[in-house]
Amino acid sequence: MSRLIVVSNRVAPTQEGSPAAGGLAVGVLDALKETGGLWFGWSGEIVGHGGAPSIDQQGTVTYATVGLTRRDYDQYYRGFSNATLWPTFHYRTDLSRYDRREYAGYVRVNAMLAKQLSTLIKPDDVIWVHDYHLLPFARALRDLNVTNPIGFFLHTPFPVGEVLRTVPPHEELVKAMCSYDVVGFQTHSDRQSFVDYIERGHFGVSTEEGVMQAFGRVLKVGTYPIGIYPDAIAKAAEQLSDRKAVAELRDAMRGRRIIMSVDRLDYSKGLVERFQAFEQLLTDAPEWQGKVSLVQIAPPTRSDVQTYQRIRQALEGEAGRINGRFAQLDWTPIQYLNRKYERNVLMALFRLSQVGYVTPLRDGMNLVAKEYVAAQNPEDPGVLVLSQFAGAAEQMPGALVVNPFDLSQMAAALASALSMPLSERKARHSDMMARLRASDLSTWRDAFLDDLRHVATAASVTRKA
Ligand code: ADP
Ligand code: G6P
Repeated sequence: MSRLIVVSNRVAPTQEGSPAAGGLAVGVLDALKETGGLWFGWSGEIVGHGGAPSIDQQGTVTYATVGLTRRDYDQYYRGFSNATLWPTFHYRTDLSRYDRREYAGYVRVNAMLAKQLSTLIKPDDVIWVHDYHLLPFARALRDLNVTNPIGFFLHTPFPVGEVLRTVPPHEELVKAMCSYDVVGFQTHSDRQSFVDYIERGHFGVSTEEGVMQAFGRVLKVGTYPIGIYPDAIAKAAEQLSDRKAVAELRDAMRGRRIIMSVDRLDYSKGLVERFQAFEQLLTDAPEWQGKVSLVQIAPPTRSDVQTYQRIRQALEGEAGRINGRFAQLDWTPIQYLNRKYERNVLMALFRLSQVGYVTPLRDGMNLVAKEYVAAQNPEDPGVLVLSQFAGAAEQMPGALVVNPFDLSQMAAALASALSMPLSERKARHSDMMARLRASDLSTWRDAFLDDLRHVATAASVTRKA
């Protein structure tokens, strides 16, 4: 079997050995541990000048990471990736800005990373690249005469053409994406946006099922929703119920209900609207005052990007205002914690809560929604309230699906989640668990890699013919 090389900007292991908060690191780490392979990307460090990748073997995975100079970090990561592409791909053109120099830096860093990786590639390797930081990565590898199969998976949404076209080099970016052999999306609508952009722009056409000819290349374009390992999560959640953080929450909440939210502190997650809908619940259904708390766990992320500083301030303001308005001496309506937890402890906290409140304004998939369901006690499960704009909503009809822009609807969904009868909770939970098992993390990985390896086989047959 050929070796797998995974490429992503963020590479998983932290000092503590628990992945960084973020769906990509969590999903890829679990998926790669089983198959083994090489994981290449940014070391997370800013360095004086570039150097060769540093190599670190941990179990089945070899990590090869490189530092970024301050200029590279500012232009490629903080600039074009996170101040242009991230907001635009999440439909926040109002928060997106474009700077030519940052885009040039983005292309330059992709070329630099491709060059670094090229020294490590063997002839039979298959290369799987992840996320918006690396849209031009395959093209950069092709420029270095790398002929291995290269696939790309986008963890975020892919916006409709009208929105994508607000990024000035949109055509160049999509053309670069067509240097991959397989391009994968989380949902059918993301995939459709990509296909529509190409067809409406007359850049190419869909030929047979799932295959496109575009910009002079042939590529497979598919939908591969990322999953989790639900039974492993259920087990971890059950086993860790006596951990300190879990016991503290249980004691603090004795007799009260918990609505639980866990997200990176990102404006795409809809946290302000979420707090306000909770406030509306306390206003519309005052019988819940003193009886339910919202626990929002939100570790800061990308804090040197201005839009993230603003959302942090806005949230602190909202939490303070709502708590000031409703708090009682022995009850705080919103518990707002800006910290990261060990992954399994987080799962145990999910299990302790009666409602999982996951309401992004836009999200590629949202693994938290899946983890929340998996962590529940099947005999007394909590209820998931889920935004219709999370990719996960396509797969989780057992959730109470809401529009995160409609505060009254969200407040009503919270009220019905809090009072839902056990039989209905169990039925919804078992339906969602069955779906999570049927489309788990290995389904995602294997479906993508089967398609990528199929390309490799087809190409070698063509070369021999
Ligand atoms: P995103 O990729 O946008 O961050 P996801 O919901 O898909 O959103 O993935 C987030 C991942 O990060 C989940 O696996 C979640 O458990 C993890 N995570 C989020 N917040 C924390 C936290 N405070 N501590 C530890 N892990 C976290
Ligand atoms: C999302 C993105 C990932 C990213 C993660 C954390 O999950 O899709 O690519 O790694 O957020 O963000 P960060 O900027 O810290 O890597």
